[in-house]
Amino acid sequence: MGFQGKVALVTGGANGLGRATAARLIGQGASVVLADIEAETGEAAANDLGADFIQTDVTVPEASHAAVDFTLEKHGKLDLAFLNAGIVTGSGLIEHFDLDGYRRAMGVNLDGVVFGLNAVVPAMRENGSGSIIATSSLAGLAPTPYDPVYCANKHAVQAICRSMGPLLFEEGITLNALCPGFAETRIVDGIKEGLDEAGIPLIKVEKVVDGVMELFEADFAGEAFMVQAGMEPQIFKFRRVPGPRAEEG
Ligand SMILES: NC(=O)c1ccc[n+]([C@@H]2O[C@H](COP(=O)([O-])OP(=O)(O)OC[C@H]3O[C@@H](n4cnc5c(N)ncnc54)[C@H](O)[C@@H]3O)[C@@H](O)[C@H]2O)c1
Repeated sequence: MGFQGKVALVTGGANGLGRATAARLIGQGASVVLADIEAETGEAAANDLGADFIQTDVTVPEASHAAVDFTLEKHGKLDLAFLNAGIVTGSGLIEHFDLDGYRRAMGVNLDGVVFGLNAVVPAMRENGSGSIIATSSLAGLAPTPYDPVYCANKHAVQAICRSMGPLLFEEGITLNALCPGFAETRIVDGIKEGLDEAGIPLIKVEKVVDGVMELFEADFAGEAFMVQAGMEPQIFKFRRVPGPRAEEG
């Protein structure tokens, strides 16, 4: 019961990685609020798991704040946040450019994390501690020619975590980016055959959740944490460019 007494908010918690993480957290003693745009699936998941649910569109700043307020009303504090809601784009940049699809994907995958941070950090400051994970992707670390918009917003998510992680760490809050490869959720339904033909293995959802749980307990921040088939979850090693802080030290 490693998370006994902890309170967690999970966006995109109605399905896939969010739901599976919520189940694991609850199994280890945490209280969990699921926040998701899908009301019916979210309510059902909350009932199944013994969680609370609030319908939330993470592209709307007020909705992220409402989800945090709801969590505080229900449970009095916020210890853990999994900013995980996400969609794939299916939009090219030149051919097949879909302006609405582009804005939607940037809204969910990037704004959702920005507005999520804006809402959860003050609540964690009240607490004096906290742990935040934002879901990026391996597409946040490598080029993704078949979905450049997804690649761009997932790069932005890990960049935000690397930028803000060290500062929040000084306040007792950890912030890291989760970067999974292709995992067995509905998000890969349309490309499963292609992945199989290309010999790209899918990651079990529970393996990704192992990585999430490790990150919740991390004593580091500002890292991109890779979860890929055939290797242990691990920090991705960027070549660090010395900045002003490094020169000061
Ligand atoms: N499955 C993979 O292969 C994979 C790999 C790398 C990263 N990811 C990322 O993991 C995260 C979870 O994805 P998943 O694979 O579990 O897919 P999923 O579709 O099962 O779950 C995503 C959840 O986000 C919710 N959501 C979508 N738009 C929302 C909005 N505007 N507001 C609130 N909730 C919204 C959906 O309703 C859904 O419940 C996403 O950020 C995704 O980009 C997934």
